[in-house]
Amino acid sequence: MAAAAEASTVPTPVVPRLLEIEPAMAALEGVVMELEDCAFPLLADVVYTSDRDVALDGCSWALLLGATPRKQGMERGDLLSANAGIFRPIGEALAAHAADDVRVLVVGNPCNTNCLIARAHAPDIPDDRWFAMTRLDENRAKAQLAQKAGVPVGQVSNVAIWGNHSATQYPDPFNARIGGRPAPEVIDDDPWLRGEFVEKVQKRGAEIIAARGKSSGASAANAVVDSVRALAFGTPPGDWTSMAVLSHGEYGVPEGLSFSFPIASDGTSWHVVEGLEHDEEARVRLRTTTEELELEGALVAHLLSRS
Ligand code: LMR
Repeated sequence: MAAAAEASTVPTPVVPRLLEIEPAMAALEGVVMELEDCAFPLLADVVYTSDRDVALDGCSWALLLGATPRKQGMERGDLLSANAGIFRPIGEALAAHAADDVRVLVVGNPCNTNCLIARAHAPDIPDDRWFAMTRLDENRAKAQLAQKAGVPVGQVSNVAIWGNHSATQYPDPFNARIGGRPAPEVIDDDPWLRGEFVEKVQKRGAEIIAARGKSSGASAANAVVDSVRALAFGTPPGDWTSMAVLSHGEYGVPEGLSFSFPIASDGTSWHVVEGLEHDEEARVRLRTTTEELELEGALVAHLLSRS
C-alpha cells in the first residue's frame, strides 16, 4: 500500500493507493468499500490498482505489506525464494515513481531481507528512508512484560528488539522499564526474563499462525500505525521504537544489514539509540540473529545487484 501524506502535526488528508495482484482485485474492491464506509474524515480519495507504477506514483509512504504469506509449518527461510522476486520490481517502481520524500516500511516477510532487495533497486532513495517492521515484536514484548508484572501495558517502555523479525530476534528485557524502573527490578524472575519471555516473543508470530491459520492481521496493522506515527511525529522523550534500519556498524553489527535497533525520532530525522548495555548472553543472541541475516543476504545476493 502507498499513501501520499506529509509529516506534519496538522491533520493531513490522505490518499491510500492500494496495490493488489490481478486475481485479488475483487477482494480489494471490498476493502475499498469498507474504507469508504469507515467515513474517515481525512480519507480524501482511494486509488486501487494492480499496476505497481500507478500505485507507487507520487507516494510519500510506501507500506509494503504484500508478500507470499507464511503458511503453518513453513519456516521463514522457505519464504526467501518465494518473496525475493516481488521486491525487485517494487524497488524499481519506487525509484521511478515515488515522491522525493518517500519513506518505505517493509512488512511482508522476510521483511529485513525484502527491504534490502527493494533498496538495491532504488539506489537514489537515501538509506535513512528504508525500514522493516519490528514494532510488532516490541508490542508483543511489552504485552508479555505487562502481564507478568500485573500492570497496564502503557507502563512498559524502552523495549528494544534487536536483529531479524524472526525466531532469532532478541527482545531485550534488561534495558526495558516498567513504571520508569528497570524491568528486572519489577519482575524478579531472571529465568523467566531470559527464557520464557524471549521465546514467547520470538515465536509469537508462529503461535498466531497456528491459532488463526493465517498470520497476524490486526496487531500487524496496529504496529504499522505505531511505526509510521513514531517516524512522522517522533518517539517519546527518553524512549524509542524498534525498527530494522540499515546498519552503519552500530553495536558491532556489520554494515549494510537491515537490522532492528532501538531508534529515536524527532519526526524529521532519526538515529539509532547508542550506549545500551548487553551482557554476554545478549551478545551471543545478537550474534545469532546477525548470522541469520547474513545467511539470508547470501541466499538473495543475486537479487541485490542491479545487473
Ligand atoms: C508475525 O510476526 O506475526 C508475522 O510476521 C509472522 C509471519 O511470518 O507471517
